[in-house]
Amino acid sequence: MASTREWFESVAEAQRRAKRRLPRSVYLALVAGTERGITLEDNVNAFGELGFRPHIADLPRQREQATTVLGQEISFPVIISPTGVQAVHPEGEVAVARAAQAAGTAIGLSSFASRSIEDVAAANERTFFQVYWVGSRESIQQRLERARAAKAKALIVTLDWTFAHRRDWGSPAIPERLDLKAMARFAPEVLRRPRWLLDFARTGKLPDLTVPNLANPGEPAPTFFGAYGQWLGTPLASWDDIRWLREEWGGPFMIKGIMHPDDARRAVDIGVSAISVSNHGGNNLDGTPATIRVLPSIVEAVGDQIEVLLDGGIRRGSDVVKALALGARAVMVGRAYLWGMAANGEAGVANVLEILRGGIDEALLGLGRASVHDLVPEDLIIPSDFTRAPAPA
Ligand SMILES: Cc1cc2nc3c(=O)[nH]c(=O)nc-3n(C[C@H](O)[C@H](O)[C@H](O)COP(=O)(O)O)c2cc1C
Repeated sequence: MASTREWFESVAEAQRRAKRRLPRSVYLALVAGTERGITLEDNVNAFGELGFRPHIADLPRQREQATTVLGQEISFPVIISPTGVQAVHPEGEVAVARAAQAAGTAIGLSSFASRSIEDVAAANERTFFQVYWVGSRESIQQRLERARAAKAKALIVTLDWTFAHRRDWGSPAIPERLDLKAMARFAPEVLRRPRWLLDFARTGKLPDLTVPNLANPGEPAPTFFGAYGQWLGTPLASWDDIRWLREEWGGPFMIKGIMHPDDARRAVDIGVSAISVSNHGGNNLDGTPATIRVLPSIVEAVGDQIEVLLDGGIRRGSDVVKALALGARAVMVGRAYLWGMAANGEAGVANVLEILRGGIDEALLGLGRASVHDLVPEDLIIPSDFTRAPAPA
């Protein structure tokens, strides 16, 4: 269906609308990648190198997309990847949670999110809480307890963060608080995007740069920079720490950020349920290859033992099908839904999920596959130099 005011037909159109609607700094924070953006670009472009081998007759009348991830049934193999520090829309992660719930899928909620685990888990019965290794074991335990009480269904621990900040194109400045002084500084770009401000004005609140999910019991939510400072001061996690975290949580558990088969095997050793092959959407170590290039080596190493997901660069349903054909159980999406939310709030997120679901269906039809579970590497034409795997030791 062609795009209308209330509907966009592609993720690319959602991105264009997000660019028109968001203040420049907020938009740049969404499209940013580290340094030259080599990884950011490769995440997207690598999908374009994979071809399909379609069939034209005896095609399946109906195509099945339902699957399970981390013990939850989802209606199609796409879930919401956790993203923190959103100043995209006043309803933030709650709007995303509702759209995902209506679409029958799960949301990963960042511990750096703008909305609380309680509000989000109330809006989506398949909420997975995402943590970084921040603070003492005691404070981490308290966070887990809170997520359990809110009925989070799984824990995601993200480990691929090297505190790399440099961006060749110039990072947007994030204020400590959006008080009047900061608003005055950002006024020129905000005034050029009045609809964004109007959305917030209607709720009577300015974008909030505090992180409610990292509040200590009985204390107010820290600012983003306060929490980030605590993270910088926390000794880096060891595999023993992550094993401890998994045991403390006790339920379905994912490590996000795996790019090396050795790490995938370590994850299996400590008993995780799932991993996501991820390079933080190109926001970690620039020069890391696209996740889709590394996926086959990870699937080969551990695919028969744990659930392997992928995130990074998913912009269309056919990208999802390519990832599944190479062995992913499902994918997680980041920027695509943030652009959808910027374009049209909750309806925009639903719109993006619908685009992906429709694209998966079209690709299944073209490939002559009745189910996402039937996809195999032979459905693809894979250039001989496509994959990247570390040289064997
Ligand atoms: C603005 C932004 C904020 C993010 N914040 C987090 C976060 O708090 N926790 C996390 O695990 N990943 C975070 N990510 C990474 C995403 O979960 C995901 O790995 C990435 O966006 C996938 O790539 P894609 O945007 O191309 O889909 C963030 C990504 C973006 C773009």
